[in-house]
Amino acid sequence: MHVFIAGANGQIGQHLLQEMADSGHEARALIRHPDQGPDLQKLGATETVLGDLEHDCSEAMRGCDAVIFTAGSGPHTGPDKTIDVDQNGAIQLVDTAKAMGIKRFIMVSTMRAEEPEKGPEKLRHYLQAKRNADEHLKSSGLNYTIVRPGRLTNDDGSGKVEVSTRLETFGEIPRQDVARVLLAVLDSDNTDNRVFDVVAGGTPVQDALASL
Ligand SMILES: NC(=O)c1ccc[n+]([C@@H]2O[C@H](COP(=O)([O-])OP(=O)(O)OC[C@H]3O[C@@H](n4cnc5c(N)ncnc54)[C@H](OP(=O)(O)O)[C@@H]3O)[C@@H](O)[C@H]2O)c1
Repeated sequence: MHVFIAGANGQIGQHLLQEMADSGHEARALIRHPDQGPDLQKLGATETVLGDLEHDCSEAMRGCDAVIFTAGSGPHTGPDKTIDVDQNGAIQLVDTAKAMGIKRFIMVSTMRAEEPEKGPEKLRHYLQAKRNADEHLKSSGLNYTIVRPGRLTNDDGSGKVEVSTRLETFGEIPRQDVARVLLAVLDSDNTDNRVFDVVAGGTPVQDALASL
């Protein structure tokens, strides 16, 4: 598959490019600055395209079969950028994918996005933005998978996770393992139109997804 990756230069995104390098898929990495390109190509990007989620990305997406959204404005910007990128940037990509006939869309959301009102006050705007983007994707008609990790760490991945449509206990997961999950979702045939939580666990990624 030709896969358009929004957030390719991010921490999960860079792990994902490495995971995709020998996967048989073609990774088209969206970047905001030309000088990000060479390093991402060394990691595993088949090609890089310039673009910005706050603007139209249709030309950058042309010819792709699937989208993986793992972008985010990050914790150091204000709520306005969270709305612009995490919410409206994601919504724009969903709409553009649909308009361009790209049928598969994999979203990195977050655990507890479905109930922002129960989250810590300082995270509520972020959880609401993620929820709005998730809801838009679910009602888009695209073949979606919404992956909802717990708190991200930079620990080495173990390749083992715990997944469930809803995990009662909040947990952590290395970014490397989120990347492995994203690649496995791309290759799976039972995550179509599914939403699931994922944290570090004891089950190999592919077995965990098969259990959903
Ligand atoms: N932090 C957590 O504990 C947690 C938990 C669950 C889920 N998540 C989600 O996990 C995802 C990725 O996390 P991460 O740690 O890999 O994030 P990250 O390292 O901050 O990467 C975010 C990426 O988004 C890109 N980006 C930001 N604004 C953009 C725009 N306007 N246009 C195009 N690209 C833009 C950044 O581009 P540049 O490289 O050019 O800056 C960067 O590559 C996010 O969706 C986040 O909400 C996080």
